[in-house]
Amino acid sequence: MFLIFPLRAVPIMYSGLNILLFFLCIISTLSPTLNHEFHPLDSLTPSELNQVKTIVNETIYSSSSSSSSQSLSFHYVGLNEPDKPVVLSWLSSDKNFTKIPPRQAFVLARIDHKNHELIVDLDASSVISNKVHDGHGYPLLTSDEQTAANNLPFTYAPFIASIEKRGLKLGEVVCQSFTIGWFGEEKTTRVVRVMCYYLDGTVNLYMRPIEGITVTVDLDEMKIVGFRDRVIVPVPKAEGTDYRQGMQKPPMNSPTKEKGPSFALEGHIVRWADWKFHLDFDMRVGPIISLASVYDLEKDEYRSVLYRGFISELFVPYMDLTEDWYYRTFFDSGEYGFGLCAAPLLPSKDCPENATYLDGYFISQDGTPGKLPKIFCIFERNAGDILWRHTETAIPGKVFTEVRPEVSLVVRMVSTVGNYDYIVDWEFRQTGTITVNIGLTGLLEVRGSPYTYKDQIHEEVYGTLLAENTLGAYHDHFLNFHLDLDVDGYANSFVKSKLQTTNVINKRSPRRSYWTVITETAKTESDAKIHLGTSAADLLVLNPNKKTKMGNYAGYRLLPRSVVNTLLSGDDYPEFRAGFTKYNVWVTPYNKSEKWAGGTYVDQSRGDDNLAVWSLRNREIENKDIVLWYTLGLHHVPCQEDFPVMPTISSGFELRPANFFEHNPVVQV
Ligand SMILES: *[C@@H]1O[C@H](CO)[C@@H](O)[C@H](O)[C@H]1NC(C)=O
Ligand SMILES: *[C@@H]1O[C@H](CO)[C@@H](O)[C@H](O)[C@H]1NC(C)=O
Repeated sequence: MFLIFPLRAVPIMYSGLNILLFFLCIISTLSPTLNHEFHPLDSLTPSELNQVKTIVNETIYSSSSSSSSQSLSFHYVGLNEPDKPVVLSWLSSDKNFTKIPPRQAFVLARIDHKNHELIVDLDASSVISNKVHDGHGYPLLTSDEQTAANNLPFTYAPFIASIEKRGLKLGEVVCQSFTIGWFGEEKTTRVVRVMCYYLDGTVNLYMRPIEGITVTVDLDEMKIVGFRDRVIVPVPKAEGTDYRQGMQKPPMNSPTKEKGPSFALEGHIVRWADWKFHLDFDMRVGPIISLASVYDLEKDEYRSVLYRGFISELFVPYMDLTEDWYYRTFFDSGEYGFGLCAAPLLPSKDCPENATYLDGYFISQDGTPGKLPKIFCIFERNAGDILWRHTETAIPGKVFTEVRPEVSLVVRMVSTVGNYDYIVDWEFRQTGTITVNIGLTGLLEVRGSPYTYKDQIHEEVYGTLLAENTLGAYHDHFLNFHLDLDVDGYANSFVKSKLQTTNVINKRSPRRSYWTVITETAKTESDAKIHLGTSAADLLVLNPNKKTKMGNYAGYRLLPRSVVNTLLSGDDYPEFRAGFTKYNVWVTPYNKSEKWAGGTYVDQSRGDDNLAVWSLRNREIENKDIVLWYTLGLHHVPCQEDFPVMPTISSGFELRPANFFEHNPVVQV
């Protein structure tokens, strides 16, 4: 993880300070135990996670008189990052004389069936804050409790009888825990629905749901508190569902060969071409890109672009109203941990041959750190695209062509949240653009049904008949991105521009119409809530204190690739819980504790702590340290090609410089 790779033609002018920093990295590289001294935004190391476990455990047990009755489980541990001003001042200080800001952990734990939020100071070896959350909702589910819940039905006589009644073999049944959402109940308890699937001749369990059996498990008591066997629906057949290579007929494609790494990795800092950024892993959100800055050849300095960027929440509501489906309105980050679900990447398959792999660390339910191997890959992409070109034919007697091929750097993670696999790519381009691409693949969530042909269906089935007895349910994916842009400094403004059609009057031109740009700087949060798609818009985060030589403000544009809005009504329960889907774009003032757009306690949340609620304060956002939140969506109407495994579909957006550079920054490439 801490290897150094040779720099390839990187246009970096090292200042004295940078040389020192570079040197420090080499030292820490040789001695990984020192590594956490390196950067205040580094994720907690395994030894720090162990410390968290010990400190929390000791505090809880010593503060209780009847210690044997205490139950403690860890649901989330992440870096409690220092406030931004502290990080920025550390960055600009002389590292020889400045200590790294205190290392702290933010912990969500359940202690005696209560939600606790703790801050652990690792330098002081103590819990410095321990708050009980009496509000609604619960923290992320742990993997251990899901496993325990999934095993319960196998020792529960009524369930075993239901499986036998269906003529199924118990040994071929696999169960999964589903969060249940919130639908207006006064009181909630920490329960999940355990849904089961059938293997028997396939590994594609998701294509073989066992419908009609509802098992409700209380996670705190870890016991079955509800059971219903309503109807018997045929289990879709195994034939044609297996997607493993050995089960397919040739021919297969072979990947193209690429050359070795050409970026530098020092601790958690990645340097490539004109980019420099910090990459880390969080068990809740997955990859976090911090302090991304781009080298400006003309100014001979790195200029800041993105202070911190990550997927803050994912919302996946299904549109099926049947008893075992209506509540399927999942929050993959706040309920299951998008990082925790990261899959080890397969070299040369998930990523090209020139990729370098990194590990991540999480904390398990009892506080023991665990390693997630090879969850990030970083590679240079040479996809055969054109960075820029021109063929000149207008000069008599001459024809010449200039072309520059495009090369970019990709950071990839795949999160497999149950049936779905999300591919997250952060791509850094030589032009100063950051492209985020989200790919969706894996297995659909299907409902078993008696139907074997479309013409038999004369009722609402909420999906597409994909194979015999197999309905692919309609659903959405909404991903909210927390994009704390610091364009050339942290004081920024958000400017939305409308392209407006203007009719020509008074015959002042033979033209009848043209469009022009109407710009408006958002003063407060309500000015920056935007529904895209109604008119052509240009969305810009700019630094009102930095101008180009031409007098334009230095900015970055948000360019969504497609525009998808929620189709649920505003008074629907899942919709207030996922308030961040109401608009495509939001802007808030920087506040370290406003990180997760769906709130902190998302399981069974009621929508009283999320981006939509925070922004009701309507705070000032002009010429301030601001955060842009972008909600990317996909509506999915399944089709037969999505069976038995879905080909990747994708969406994404770009953050692209706009009057940030004095001219095309890649003319000199
Ligand atoms: C927690 O602390 C108690 C009391 O000090 C100790 O008996 C127990 O082994 C500790 N548990 C863990 C998991 O460290
Ligand atoms: C930061 O956000 C939290 C959560 O919305 C809020 O309680 C707190 O008052 C905010 N702090 C400031 C300084 O606005």
